[in-house]
Amino acid sequence: MYIKGVGMTKFDYSEKAWWQFAYEAAIDALQDAKMNISQIDAIIFTGMSSASGGEHQTHKVSFLSELFKTNVPIIETPSVCGGGGVALYTALHLSGFNNVLVLSGEKIVDNKSEVVTDYILSAAERAIEQEEGMLFPAQNALVWQNYSRKYGATLDDLSLIAYKNHEFAALNPKAYFYNKFFDLEKIKNSPEVASPFRLMDCSLSVNGGAAVIVSKEKTDVEVIGSGFATDHILTFEREDLTHFKATKLAAEKAFTEAKITPKDIDVAEIHDAFTSVELFSYEDLGFAEEGKGAELIRSGKISKGGEMPINPSGGLKAKGHPISVTGLAQVYEIVNQLRGKCEERQVKDASTGLTHNIGGAGGSVTVHIFKKVNN
Ligand code: COA
Repeated sequence: MYIKGVGMTKFDYSEKAWWQFAYEAAIDALQDAKMNISQIDAIIFTGMSSASGGEHQTHKVSFLSELFKTNVPIIETPSVCGGGGVALYTALHLSGFNNVLVLSGEKIVDNKSEVVTDYILSAAERAIEQEEGMLFPAQNALVWQNYSRKYGATLDDLSLIAYKNHEFAALNPKAYFYNKFFDLEKIKNSPEVASPFRLMDCSLSVNGGAAVIVSKEKTDVEVIGSGFATDHILTFEREDLTHFKATKLAAEKAFTEAKITPKDIDVAEIHDAFTSVELFSYEDLGFAEEGKGAELIRSGKISKGGEMPINPSGGLKAKGHPISVTGLAQVYEIVNQLRGKCEERQVKDASTGLTHNIGGAGGSVTVHIFKKVNN
């Protein structure tokens, strides 16, 4: 399958409804593909909900039918922060359609920070984690402490990841932190939010929309690998408390299908919900050996100007994380990188790219691999 068009809104705190973000992103993708909505024969939508403010509108497929003036099948694939990747995976594995619009819009930041945080917590296990107040920053800080004790990586290594992603976001006009520069000292001295995590170890919740048009017709970008794996919702029931098994399984599937290895990837968008998650995902995806993720970030190889930049969009950390939209925004970045359209943050000669999208703390993970088609 091929990518015919991609679209995305600016990520920010603007007060639009989820469907306005979705609509803007869809129009952007249709214009990019030089298509109109009548040429779309199915839509896959993913969204967490009408966000914490509660718009009381759950029949979204019918709502979208009216919005786009279409009667084609519209399928919803919710999977919290991993929704975008799961929606793309569904579109790629759906038979009988030529052009599928994969779409997400989220209004996450529409209330006080504690209300938004409580709402995001609904993605965690209900009986133990939610009841015990195991917020995502706290949950991931515990996973990080296990990792750090076992492999010796430090908070300074995590600071390098935040620095790298902010350096890229400053060059991305669609990122929340566009044109904003943060030095390493400021990152290291940011306030602690869930010991030992600091503010700068966490992704930033934002509002936004993204869309991807998947097609059977040959275009300039082909999807050559697609993997999806799931795992226990209760994080601390897992066999391994230092890595996400679902990432390893999804990556193995995607690389096998693509018939390439991690060494063949030129650019990647990794799900950096927390700096620590980006760090051990280098290992889960095969970019570094087990326990050697810190060496990769220290080497400069994945930073701006390096051999294989990771998160050139700014990632969830600095572009922002509108939950289900994230997986499709990652595709937007990789497709534009392969097309050479990313201006100051362009990765030189990028021809193969990867996206990695996680739902919850590693409970649902997709990995997709894209290749530039030479016509
Ligand atoms: N990085 C950098 N700046 C951040 C930030 C982050 N992660 N989070 C918030 N800020 C900034 C805001 O932009 C705001 O700046 P401003 O005053 O200049 O507008 C300021 O900090 C206060 O924002 P607020 O939302 O009130 O912060 P907070 O202290 O309540 O929340 C976190 C901070 C880290 C707790 C929150 O961002 C968070 O929970 N992030 C993780 C979200 C998450 O778990 N997502 C799901 C992943 S699986």
